[in-house]
Amino acid sequence: MVCFTTSVPSVALTNPGNFFFSPLLATFNANSRSCSLQYSNNRPKLFALYFLDHTRRVVWDYFIIKFFEQHMRTINPKEIISKYYAPYTEAMEILLTHSEVVAEKAKKVAMRLPELNPDIDFIVQAAWLHDIGIFQTNAPGIGCTGSEPYLCHGVLGRKILEDEGLPLHALVCERHVGTGLSKALIEKQNLPLPRRDMVPVTLEEKIICFADKFFSKNKKRLRQEKSIDRIQKSLQKHGDAVASQFDKWLIEFKETGNNTDSL
Ligand SMILES: [Fe+2]
Repeated sequence: MVCFTTSVPSVALTNPGNFFFSPLLATFNANSRSCSLQYSNNRPKLFALYFLDHTRRVVWDYFIIKFFEQHMRTINPKEIISKYYAPYTEAMEILLTHSEVVAEKAKKVAMRLPELNPDIDFIVQAAWLHDIGIFQTNAPGIGCTGSEPYLCHGVLGRKILEDEGLPLHALVCERHVGTGLSKALIEKQNLPLPRRDMVPVTLEEKIICFADKFFSKNKKRLRQEKSIDRIQKSLQKHGDAVASQFDKWLIEFKETGNNTDSL
């Protein structure tokens, strides 16, 4: 008589995936062509193995889910903006249009740089959110009736997005003003800002900061891209270092401009 025994999965007692740890044994009799099922004598050991394997899977799944939540979270920027801006207000209309054109421009720049492998999804999301702090500033010309100086909209935006659980998007807010504000510059000009470097560090932060310079929040020209000349003149007012950073980015980001701005 030829017999052989193996463990088989049991839907009722264990996870079908745990084939080797099943407490059920199947015995096949090749002569009579019959098969019988019985519990293994080693059942406690098999259950222990099953328990350990199950625990491993649960723990593993937990960390995988956490990783995806942390690093690959999909967000809806407009939904976040609508938590802080009343619909159809001047501030919201200006913010949405400005964010849209900056996101489009930043995406175009990023797509020209495949060799640098920029995170385009992040760039689009963060570009949509980079100015979320403006409503807390005192800028009646764009419908913002807060009390803080407009220059602070970056740090205010950072706080908002950190509270939203978006620390990387938050840094884009803080680091996009001008071509970045160094601690030395903040101290030298006694700007109403915390004394720390607020300069774009990552490629994504730099691209968004760069793209932002091409658009104003002037209601009549929200979608009109500024000429490179005009941007350079405007940055020059803040010093050589600020202006020369933009010039470096023009080369690094292969920007030729569309020069549609008539000044
Ligand atoms: Fe902006």
